[in-house]
Amino acid sequence: MLTDLHSVAQSCAADGTGLGAFNVIHLENARTFTRAAEESERPVVLQISQNAVKYHDGMLEPIALGTLSVAKAADVPVIVHLDHAEDEELCRRAIDLGFTSVMYDGSHLPDDANREATARIVEYARAAGVSVEAELGEVGGKNGVHDPSARTDPGDAAQFVADTGVDLLAVAVGSSHAMTTRGAELDFDLIAALRDAVPVPLVLHGSSGVSDDGMQAAIRAGMTKINVSTHLNKVFTGTVREYLAEHPDVVDSRRWFAPATAAQEAEVARLLRLYAEA
Ligand code: G3H
Ligand code: ZN
Repeated sequence: MLTDLHSVAQSCAADGTGLGAFNVIHLENARTFTRAAEESERPVVLQISQNAVKYHDGMLEPIALGTLSVAKAADVPVIVHLDHAEDEELCRRAIDLGFTSVMYDGSHLPDDANREATARIVEYARAAGVSVEAELGEVGGKNGVHDPSARTDPGDAAQFVADTGVDLLAVAVGSSHAMTTRGAELDFDLIAALRDAVPVPLVLHGSSGVSDDGMQAAIRAGMTKINVSTHLNKVFTGTVREYLAEHPDVVDSRRWFAPATAAQEAEVARLLRLYAEA
C-alpha cells in the first residue's frame, strides 16, 4: 500500500531498524524492489531522482505513475519518493502527482538559501500531507568526483530542522555517492552525536560504498533511511553481462531482463533483512 514516509521512518527509528530506499530508473525496478519487500515483509522506499527524470526526457509522469500504481498494489508499505531534486518546481509536480515524500536537495546552496528553499517546499508539502527530506552538509560524489570528507555539524543540523520543519535529514558522515567498491569509512561517533541532537530520522546517502557491517553499524548508531542505487545497478549490469556472454543469440530484451531483475530482487531482499536485523 502507498504510505507516507514520515510515519514509516519514525517507526523504524523507534525500533532501531533500517528502512531501505532504492532508486527506480526503469519501471521494472519498481516491481522488483516491491516484490523483494513483500518477500521480506518490510516497508520500502521507491525513489525516483531528478537525474532519472532527466533520463526519461524530463518526463516525470510515465515513470512516476507506473511506480505509484505498483506501490498501491503492494502488500507492504511502499513510499514513493522524489530523490535529490534541486528543482523546486519538480518537487511541486511530484507532490501534485501523488508522491508521498520528496527530497529537496539544496545542499549545494549557501546555508541560508538552502534553508529558505527547503522551508518553501515543506510548506507546500504539508498542505498535501507529504513528507520532506532535506540535506545539510553535501554528501560527495554527485558530480562523479568522490569526496567522503564532508561532515554535518550536529548543532547546525538541529537548527536546520527547527528552521525548516523537515521530516528527515540527510547528513554527511563519510559516505560518497556512486562508489563501485564498498570501502567507505563512516564516522559512527558523528552519527550518534547527530542522532542525539536531531529530532527527526537521519538518512545515509551513497550507501553503495558501505559494507554490510558498516550499514548495520550505521543503523545501530542512529541512521534510519539507507539509500542504495549504484550497488543495485552493478548487480543488474553484471548479470546482464554474464547472461549475454553465455547466450549470444538472444535478442528479446525480456530474456536478459529476467535474470538481471531476479538478481536485484534477491539482493534487495537480503539488504532489507540485513537492515531489519541491525
Ligand atoms: O540518493 C541516492 C543514494 O544516495 C544512492 O547512492 O548510488 O552511491 O548508492 P549510491
Ligand atoms: Zn543520495
